[in-house]
Amino acid sequence: MAGTGRDRTGCRGSGTPSPDTGTEGRADRGRVSSGDPRFAGSPGTPEPAICAFCGAERHTEGRILLGAPIWRRGSPMPCQCPEGKADWLRMEAEAEAERLAWRKEAADAAMRRRARRIAGESGMGERFLQRTFRTFEAETAEQRKFKAVAQAYARTFDDRLPKRGEPLPGRNGLVISGTKGTGKTHMAAAIANEIMSRGTAVICMTERNLLGRIKQAYSPAGRADENAVRAMYERVPLLAIDDLGKEKATEWTLSTLYAIIDARYERAMPLIVTTNYGARGLAERLTPKGEDKTTADAILDRLSEMCESIVTGGESWRARQ
Ligand SMILES: Nc1ncnc2c1ncn2[C@@H]1O[C@H](COP(=O)(O)OP(=O)(O)O)[C@@H](O)[C@H]1O
Ligand SMILES: [Mg+2]
Ligand SMILES: [Zn+2]
Repeated sequence: MAGTGRDRTGCRGSGTPSPDTGTEGRADRGRVSSGDPRFAGSPGTPEPAICAFCGAERHTEGRILLGAPIWRRGSPMPCQCPEGKADWLRMEAEAEAERLAWRKEAADAAMRRRARRIAGESGMGERFLQRTFRTFEAETAEQRKFKAVAQAYARTFDDRLPKRGEPLPGRNGLVISGTKGTGKTHMAAAIANEIMSRGTAVICMTERNLLGRIKQAYSPAGRADENAVRAMYERVPLLAIDDLGKEKATEWTLSTLYAIIDARYERAMPLIVTTNYGARGLAERLTPKGEDKTTADAILDRLSEMCESIVTGGESWRARQ
């Protein structure tokens, strides 16, 4: 409620002149207007601007500090005519959009730096950068299809990210399975490279390096780092886990992989997985010897909900070289 007589200046009894003579009866918080006759002709009182729509004077807002007005820099107050108000709102909206874009760019850049720090030395080096769509030769119909699916995925990636206030994207990931040497890693890297080249942060790592990076942070001192690494795996716009099922499974690898995949599932974040195994083989590979497959099945269940699948075929590229 305005005008309750509460002293909001926090200067009760300090002898500061009362600011309660501001603009249009709105005396709160010591605001004053350069149109106030008390300031007319004082040095430093800003000249009024003229409203481009109605010709009225637009004054500048100020605040009283130690008995003198401090004028706000930048533009004078909006005119209260309809066109003036509308113009002001439009400019405010533009400035806000600019601020948001700037903040998003800063957040993206920070995300890219963190992704690079985590994955930097483990596979996303020179060789990774050379695995692109351009260097993937599609000779057979199967390869052409594989390449087309992967390219379409990369091209439409931004649409696959969850967005605040919009329904969750369905199936926004890929599982690429098939025998050794059929270009699975190459294609996962090609997608990652394409998305990265557009400024989006990506982590593309083998299961081994991905888990290794968490273990590396495993020490009393590395605790914060471990959490940061896990958080990145959960939040980076694209996580690609190369060669899932290749490492020897332990309780820890299983629960850690489940935690990462489930967190991305909950957030509807895109995930790419490559594997040499089919679904049943993969569940077996992910489960430690003699343990039951409940958790591995849960991983497969998540993957089936999150990902489209592509099965690569044909002869091994490696064998041809
Ligand atoms: N269609 C292709 N065109 C060009 N290079 C390929 C193609 N398929 C595979 N390669 C290359 O052959 C090697 C093995 O492929 P890779 O992607 O590692 O196979 P996978 O991950 O399926 O075992 C890599 O050096 C890769 O760049
Ligand atoms: Mg591979
Ligand atoms: Zn006006």
